[in-house]
Amino acid sequence: MSMLQTPIADHSDISAQLDSAVARFGMVDMPDLRYTPAVARETANLYERVKDHIPSIEWPVFAPYIHAINRLKKERGAVILAHNYQTPEIFHCVSDIVGDSLQLAREASRADADIIIQCGVHFMAETSKLLNPDKTILIPDIRAGCSLSESITGADVRLLKQANPGVPVVTYVNTSADVKAETDICCTSSNALAVVESLESDTVLCIPDEYLAMNIAKQSSKRILTWKGHCEVHERFTAEELLAYKESDPRIQIVGHPECHPDVIDVCDFSGSTADMIKYVKTEKPSKVLLVTECSMASNVEAETPGVEFVKPCNLCPHMKRITLPKILDSLVYLKEEVTVDPAIAGRARLAVERMINLGK
Ligand code: 13P
Ligand code: SF4
Repeated sequence: MSMLQTPIADHSDISAQLDSAVARFGMVDMPDLRYTPAVARETANLYERVKDHIPSIEWPVFAPYIHAINRLKKERGAVILAHNYQTPEIFHCVSDIVGDSLQLAREASRADADIIIQCGVHFMAETSKLLNPDKTILIPDIRAGCSLSESITGADVRLLKQANPGVPVVTYVNTSADVKAETDICCTSSNALAVVESLESDTVLCIPDEYLAMNIAKQSSKRILTWKGHCEVHERFTAEELLAYKESDPRIQIVGHPECHPDVIDVCDFSGSTADMIKYVKTEKPSKVLLVTECSMASNVEAETPGVEFVKPCNLCPHMKRITLPKILDSLVYLKEEVTVDPAIAGRARLAVERMINLGK
């Protein structure tokens, strides 16, 4: 997606948004966003990383934002955490730490910075806040949600627990703090099986992703109860379309995310979290690969795996795509949007995330 199509944030009512974070860290001016020879020179090495994805004619629009963000984040003492689905200019040019949900949660808990800017979706920023209650957590667009997170509420989990007394609740991190607060332990796509297996009970509630739960159930002897939540991106892939790709070229290796339907995972050569998928491509170096997941990830990995050809059936996550360079710059200048968690639920929600992080330590 070209940044040229991205609406620049409207700053007209910004005084109304200046809040306590500005009072704590002070005001800064919006940087000059001209593409000067100095900006061109100082961003030339970064352009090398994204040149296959951003036409050179568009770089003068991207570069001033990248230059300003990198300067301002140092000045503010901020770190930028970016999920693997962020666009290449965010992933390769302004982020300090990139990864899957588990890696970002771990890094958030180790972060040595007063301000964390979460380039991802709201539940990720909320997880960072749970692990860093004293830090300022900002998300460049507070509306960046997730269809899984929106599929279930804390009240739903309370009803599930009433209907299944004594059954432990494993909740995917793709949920609100309200849901995590009702949970025994969280999981991500990279540790879901290990989390389920760590519990003594023969029956486990694994919510809210129905397909993730079904994929785990195939590898576990436990009885797994679930919920009807789905990822709106991964549920679009079908086994038929993947088989058609494979028929068109048998060299294609298919690497899928466990949020896909089990029929899709059955035709994959490998399945794992976004970080595990990247690791697979980097170590196996298939001559041709199809990543069954959000499409920015293929662009991000492509830049780091010369010689691997990527087939790109494009399914975008509209929530991840809300995060743009202009909004990240706004976050740094105006310290918005600050993510907070109700103290009445934060303690219990934190415990569920910490149990997951501590598992296997
Ligand atoms: P990962 O933990 O594998 O990065 O997945 C997060 C996500 O939202 C996938 O859609
Ligand atoms: Fe949520 Fe799916 Fe987007 Fe991941 S890709 S953030 S699970 S909607």
